[in-house]
Amino acid sequence: MEIIVCKNYDELSKKASQFIIDLIKEKSNAVLGLATGGTPEGMYAELVKAYKNGEISFKDVKTYNLDEYVGLDGNHEQSYRYFMNKQLFDYVDINKANTHVPNGKADDLDGECKNYEKNLEELGYADIQILGIGTNGHIGFNEPAEELIIPTHVEPLVEETIEANSRYFDSKDEVPKEAISMGIGSILKAKHIILLASGANKNEIMKYFNNDKISTNVPASLIKLHPHVTIIMDEDAAK
Ligand code: F6R
Repeated sequence: MEIIVCKNYDELSKKASQFIIDLIKEKSNAVLGLATGGTPEGMYAELVKAYKNGEISFKDVKTYNLDEYVGLDGNHEQSYRYFMNKQLFDYVDINKANTHVPNGKADDLDGECKNYEKNLEELGYADIQILGIGTNGHIGFNEPAEELIIPTHVEPLVEETIEANSRYFDSKDEVPKEAISMGIGSILKAKHIILLASGANKNEIMKYFNNDKISTNVPASLIKLHPHVTIIMDEDAAK
């Protein structure tokens, strides 16, 4: 596991984007596993810059997002599909048909999950999987629990996550109570996992990367079992 500590968020964003830029230069039809949330926003801005400078093209790139809220359609401003369009997809030459975010409005949610997983499996899973981390150690929406689910599934959100994500909604009551999320297995099958952590509110949970343990109560700790992991954090998260 490689740990990179950056001076600040700006450096973290540049570092993270460089891994993706290098991958796309080497493999134009790369499969990217993407995350939403505040942490990767700077990285997406750097990727848009790299596209505009002519450094990379997303023409043949495929993307699979980690998760989506159940009940929100892609036009809802807090949906993760909307987020991805506004952060990246609308500003680069990606074919929207090659961008995948689970459908939180599917009539058959279980069928949607199975299909999402099957598509990922057929592609051989992500070349790079980007992750953020919740203050409770969640990755995707895999919340701390006795048991974790391996493939893409519907996950009820815990109180801490609803509270943390309420900053994007008018009120806490509007935060959906469930999400579709890639499972721990879908994440661990990526070829390279890059976990990003920024800000002092993440330093307590990042301490868990200082020991040789794993726990389903800290879902992110399971990535310690993966052979190719890069953790990029800023000094505030690393303190
Ligand atoms: C988002 C996701 C979540 C976030 C995590 C951290 O797609 O899967 O696990 O990465 O909640 O969110 P931020 O970056 O907002 O602190």
